[in-house]
Amino acid sequence: MTTLTTPDERARDTEQKLTDDERFSLIISLLGPASIVPRDPRIPADVKNVSAGYTSGIPRLGIPALQSSDASMGVTNPGYRPDDKGATAFPASILVGSSFNPQLARKGGVAIAREARIRGFNIMLAGGMNLARDVRNGRNYEYYSEDPWVSAVMGAEAVNGIQSQSVISTLKHYTLNCNETNRHWLDAIIDPAAHRESDLLAFQIAIERSQPGSIMSGYNKINGVYASGDPHLLNDVLKGAWGYKGYVMSDWGAVPDWDYAFRGLDQESGIQLDVKQWGAEAFTDRLKAAYSDGKFPKERLSDMVRRILRSVYAVGIDKWGPAPAVDMTRHNEIALEIARQGIVLLKNDGALPLATDRPLKIAVIGGYVQQGVISGTGSGAVSPVGGFAGVIKIGGAGIMGGLRNLFLFPPSPLDALKNALPQAEIDFDPGYTPAEAALTAKRSDVVIAFGIRVEGEGFDLPDLSLPWGQDAVIDAVASANPNTIVVLETGNPVSMPWCDKVKAIVQAWYPGQAGGQAIAEILAGRVNPSGRLPITFPASLAQTPRPELSGLGTPWGTPTTVRYDEGAEVGYRWYAQKNIKPLYAFGHGLSYTTFSYSDLKVSGGETVTATFTVTNTGKIAGADVPQVYLTDAPDRKRMRLLGFERVELAPGVSRSITITAEPRLLAQFDGVAGRWRIAGGSYRIALGRSTENLPLNAAAQLEPRVFGE
Ligand code: BGC
Repeated sequence: MTTLTTPDERARDTEQKLTDDERFSLIISLLGPASIVPRDPRIPADVKNVSAGYTSGIPRLGIPALQSSDASMGVTNPGYRPDDKGATAFPASILVGSSFNPQLARKGGVAIAREARIRGFNIMLAGGMNLARDVRNGRNYEYYSEDPWVSAVMGAEAVNGIQSQSVISTLKHYTLNCNETNRHWLDAIIDPAAHRESDLLAFQIAIERSQPGSIMSGYNKINGVYASGDPHLLNDVLKGAWGYKGYVMSDWGAVPDWDYAFRGLDQESGIQLDVKQWGAEAFTDRLKAAYSDGKFPKERLSDMVRRILRSVYAVGIDKWGPAPAVDMTRHNEIALEIARQGIVLLKNDGALPLATDRPLKIAVIGGYVQQGVISGTGSGAVSPVGGFAGVIKIGGAGIMGGLRNLFLFPPSPLDALKNALPQAEIDFDPGYTPAEAALTAKRSDVVIAFGIRVEGEGFDLPDLSLPWGQDAVIDAVASANPNTIVVLETGNPVSMPWCDKVKAIVQAWYPGQAGGQAIAEILAGRVNPSGRLPITFPASLAQTPRPELSGLGTPWGTPTTVRYDEGAEVGYRWYAQKNIKPLYAFGHGLSYTTFSYSDLKVSGGETVTATFTVTNTGKIAGADVPQVYLTDAPDRKRMRLLGFERVELAPGVSRSITITAEPRLLAQFDGVAGRWRIAGGSYRIALGRSTENLPLNAAAQLEPRVFGE
C-alpha cells in the first residue's frame, strides 16, 4: 500500500471514492438560521452552532461537516447566533492595520480560531483584503489598510494565526468590493494592469504568505463581470498565474447564475440567499441537470471537490483532537494589547498625556461613554461575553438595514478613565445638545469629547461628518474650553471641522471590548501611543479620487457603476501624485517620546535594500514604525510603501534595521506580457514617519528586470 502524504494526493484519492451525490453536496453551503431565513431542514437537527455556512460531511471517508462563521474581529455573530453566550470582541481590522504589527495580527488570529474551535467552526470567513480605496466605504473597518503591502502582510498573519489552529481561513472579498452602495449591482471599473498592482497584489502576496484554504469572491462586478463568475480573475489569474490550489467560495447572495461553476467558482455559499436575492435556481439543481445532460463536465465537478478537500487536508480540519483550552482572560489581554498598539494619536499640542499629579476637573462628553465603546456593524459584529452594554437599532434600507445597530461593548470608557485617573474629578455630559455640553466644558480644566460613527456592511457614508450633530457639540465644547481633547470611534476618517480648535485628537477606531481601557491608558499616559494611520485622512471629499460617489442615494437594487480611475494610485499614492496635502497622512501617528533616524544606506540591483538606525531620543519607552518609501522611479513620480518595521525602544536606545523591498512594489505590471517589469535606472528611496515626513532619502540603482506573473 502506498501512503498518501500530500493534501493533493489525499484530495485526489478521496474524490475518486465519492458518489456524485456526495460531490454535489460538497459544492454548496447552507446559511444557518438567521433573521432573514429559518433553519433549513437540510441541516440535520442534531447539528449545533450553525452560523454562516453548513456543508454536510462525509463520515465514511472522514470528511467533517464544513461549518463556517464570521470572523475577523472575533467569532460572530448576533444576527445568526442569538443563543451564543458571547466571544471575545477584538478590535476592528483597520485598528489591527494601524498597529503595523504582524505578530499581533497573528496572535489575534490564533485566539479567534480557538474560540471558533470550541464552537465547532472549522472555517473562519476572515481576512478582509480589500483596499480602503474610498473613505466612504462602510466596510473599511473590516479591512487592514489602503496599501497592498500593509494589507497583505497583516492579513496573511491573521490567516496564519487562524490556520495554525487547524481552522481554514478565507481571504475576502475577491476583488474590488471597495464600496457597499448597491453592492450586488455595483460594477467596479478599473484598468486591469493597475488592478494587478493594487487590490490583486494585496491578495497575491497574502496568498503566498499564508496559503488560505479559501478565497471568498465579492458581490460586485469587475469591468462588467460578476466577481463570482469571472473566468479571467478566477481561472487565469488566481488559479492560473498564481497557482492557487484552494477553493473559491462565493459571498452570501453573490451567485445570480448557476453556470458560475463553469467560470471558476468552486462552492456556492448560503444557497438560500441566492434564491432569495436573484430568484436564482439553486446552483446544484441546475448543475445536476446539466451534468446528467452531459453539459457540465465531470472533470470540473471533480476539480471543485478536490480543491475543497485539499484545503480540508492542508489545514487539517479532518484531524481535530480535543477542543483547545480557551483562556478568555488571556484573550481579553490580547484584545487590549491590539487596542493599545493600534490607537493613533493624531494631534497633540501638549494636552496629552493628562496630568496625573494634580486633581484635574475633567469633563467627559458624548459618545455613550457612560456605557461602552462602539463597534462596526454587519456580518462581522461580535457579541461580547456577558452581552452588549447597549444596543440602539439604527436601521436603514436593504437587507442589511436590520443588522445596522449601534453596539456598545462594556466596560465603559468613563469608568476606565476614573480608574486611570484616580485623582481627577470627572464630570460626564452626554453631548445631548451643544449648549448643554458647553456649560459642562466651561466649568472644567480639561474636556475629553468623544465622537462616534456607526459604519458597516450594506452602507456607504454620504460624507465625512460625524452623525447626530456631534461636530456641533465638539465645536461648542472646544469654543467653551480650549483644553479640549477629541477621541474618535469611527471606522474611517472624518472631516474634523473643529480640528484647529482642539488640543489633541485620538483615533480609537472600533477598539473592541478592551477599548475603553486602552483609550483611558493612552490618555493618562500609562501607555505610550504607537498606532500609525493605515489610511489617509483627507481634508475633504474634494481631495479624493471620487468627490461624488455614483449610485449613492439611489434605491437598493439600482445598477451602479463606480470608476476606480485612480487605478493603482490608491490612498497616499493618489495624494502624492496630485500633490495634495491631506488632513493626516498615511503612516502618521504621534508618540509621547521622539525618534530620530540616521545612517540611511540603500543598495539596488534586483531590488532595494535599505539599512538605517532608529533611536528613541525622548525620555520614555515607546514604539516607532519607521517606513521606507519609493518616492520617484526613473521616469516619473511614484510613491510606494516598500516596507516598515515596528520597533519597541527604551529611551536612548538605538536599533539598526534592514528592509528589503518586495520587488513587485517597485515594478509595473505589463498587462500585455502578463509580467512584472522594473525599468533600469535610479530610484529615490525615502525613510520617515509618514508619507509627509520623510527626513532621509537616497538613490538606488536598479537593473532592468522582467519577472513573475
Ligand atoms: C458578507 C461576508 C460574510 C458573509 C457571511 C456577507 O454578507 O459580505 O463578508 O462573510 O456575509 O456572513
